Amino acid sequence: MKKVALITGAYKGIGFETAFQLGKKGYTVLVTARTQQKSEDAAAKLKAESIDAWGLKLDVNNSEDVTNVVTFLSERFGRLDVLVNNGGVQLDFPGFMLGNSTETVSMEILKQTFETNFFAPIALTQKLLPLISKSDAGRIVNVSSIMGSLTLHADVESPIYGIKFMAYNSSKTALNQFTLHLAEALKNTSIKVNSAHPGWVKTDLGGEYAPMTIHEGAKTLVDLSTLDESGSHGGFIHLGEPLPW
Ligand SMILES: NC(=O)c1ccc[n+]([C@@H]2O[C@H](COP(=O)([O-])OP(=O)(O)OC[C@H]3O[C@@H](n4cnc5c(N)ncnc54)[C@H](OP(=O)(O)O)[C@@H]3O)[C@@H](O)[C@H]2O)c1
Repeated sequence: MKKVALITGAYKGIGFETAFQLGKKGYTVLVTARTQQKSEDAAAKLKAESIDAWGLKLDVNNSEDVTNVVTFLSERFGRLDVLVNNGGVQLDFPGFMLGNSTETVSMEILKQTFETNFFAPIALTQKLLPLISKSDAGRIVNVSSIMGSLTLHADVESPIYGIKFMAYNSSKTALNQFTLHLAEALKNTSIKVNSAHPGWVKTDLGGEYAPMTIHEGAKTLVDLSTLDESGSHGGFIHLGEPLPW
């Protein structure tokens, strides 16, 4: 039986590439996007590559979309094997590479960022957990960022020390806490949950100067989606290596 994977924010970037790579490994992929049209466009591209793909509208901040996705999955597959919480935004950008938005970031930007990067993955995961529990080996990947590492932000020698984008970074720190707390809650189950740092990747979010290709950026997400029984649970991982929280 083919495994079923749902990826949020799968219209482009790392999310689309993750759907592509999982599809090529034989997974049925549910490519979700903020609009029906984008989800169908993404699914059509994958189908053209002989991938079993379904396009579904899912704005992660829209509870009606979440309900529709849960209903679709229940009726069509009766379970979910992989959830990749990939969709995310970076709305505060105080300067290329270096900068600190802490004194200026608006409450609106902070709230919008946390809605998409933190609250939405929790709400979606909670709603999908009954279906993930029906999988033999459920895998949940929270797409975080090295920018969420408190340890590295406290270390003046670290390469990210000078990049203090208050809203984005703290939303990923909070997402990492979700990973740890959920991992504890699921410790006696066959489900594994991890945070992924894709790397600095050339996407609309990562920008043109990023050193990694989208193909390379999807690797950590795909690895964590396809972990075997001995794989990481409750980790913060980049290309197979743990990152400091
Ligand atoms: N690129 C990097 O260097 C890097 C580094 C570390 C972590 N990450 C993380 O990797 C993930 C993917 O980012 P990316 O680099 O691939 O950026 P991207 O190309 O800008 O893709 C972001 C995706 O998230 C979607 N999205 C935004 N808000 C959403 C919402 N409310 N509901 C559903 N989807 C939503 C976007 O949808 P639309 O197409 O509708 O805009 C888009 O498909 C993000 O979580 C990001 O924080 C990226």
